[in-house]
Amino acid sequence: MLYQRVLITGANGLLGQELVRQLGSFVHYDVLATARDDEPRFSGGSCGYIALDITDASSLSAIFQDFSPDVVINCAAMTEVDRCESDRDACWRVNTEAVDNLARLCQAGGSRIVQISTDFIFDGLVGLYREDDRPNPLSYYGRSKLAGENAARGAGIDQWAIARTVLVYGAGRDLPRTNFVLWVINKLTAGERIKIVTDQWRSPTYAPDLAHGVERIIRFRKHGVFHLSGRELFSIYDMAVMVAESFGLDPELIQPIDGSGLKQSAVRPRKTDFIILKAETELGFNPRNFRASLADLDHRLEILAESGSET
Ligand SMILES: NC(=O)c1ccc[n+]([C@@H]2O[C@H](COP(=O)([O-])OP(=O)(O)OC[C@H]3O[C@@H](n4cnc5c(N)ncnc54)[C@H](OP(=O)(O)O)[C@@H]3O)[C@@H](O)[C@H]2O)c1
Repeated sequence: MLYQRVLITGANGLLGQELVRQLGSFVHYDVLATARDDEPRFSGGSCGYIALDITDASSLSAIFQDFSPDVVINCAAMTEVDRCESDRDACWRVNTEAVDNLARLCQAGGSRIVQISTDFIFDGLVGLYREDDRPNPLSYYGRSKLAGENAARGAGIDQWAIARTVLVYGAGRDLPRTNFVLWVINKLTAGERIKIVTDQWRSPTYAPDLAHGVERIIRFRKHGVFHLSGRELFSIYDMAVMVAESFGLDPELIQPIDGSGLKQSAVRPRKTDFIILKAETELGFNPRNFRASLADLDHRLEILAESGSET
């Protein structure tokens, strides 16, 4: 297998940490992990680490010169959907302009880019989206990520891949933000009541499965758009109940509500699930089902707790 130098941005986030863990276990990847913090949040992973804010064009350019990546995996993004609505300039700088800059550097240096994107580029009216379905984002986050996809294409023909995903959950060390499943576990463990919507549906995606799909994109030097998500579709409420059941927590603490009962500045799509046939056939993508992922997550959380890490 050909050796590849891989630059990961946003490496301290949920997906970034998982990619560092998985790619670090292969000898044919030389990984340089980057994130805004001075120090990596992950432990282990056979890779170098440099602090990098992707909106800092000169630092980005210097890293390209020094490391000369074969491929860049851009996991860095402003992912708080409501914050993107209220802080539009900052959102656009990270989710769009910085991707444009990354793609230009890739184009100039002959590097490939894998841009991580989102189901929120769709309006969620019909669901079961294919890679070539028409986007129609409802939120500023969705618009910025769609523009980011278009910017990534600037890396040049055959030099870009876009990996879209849906409601990602998993564990990591000192994660900068929680994710839906961890949030439900933490709230119910604390005995708190939570209100969860019954009228939004998602295909939850386990971060290790997503990272595995992304690894396949770079391993097989694939280009184009790939949908990488779990196969099952659940209402967010049903997901929360399954989390409670899997972790031995009290599902009675979960109050079903409809979306109109939530005060959120960003409009969420109603139903987003993906057709993942392309990823299954071209990448061998084979995500676990939700229950099996939750069992694996339980195990991972125990290991992290034993090592004294926060999730
Ligand atoms: N999580 C989901 O449910 C979901 C669903 C669909 C798509 N996605 C996409 O998946 C990708 C990975 O997200 P994730 O789930 O791993 O989210 P995450 O845990 O929030 O990670 C995103 C990372 O990006 C970093 N970042 C933000 N601005 C940056 C900047 N200017 N320079 C460098 N790093 C910066 C954040 O660092 P700080 O801690 O310093 O802010 C954070 O560590 C994103 O493209 C996201 O849009 C996620």
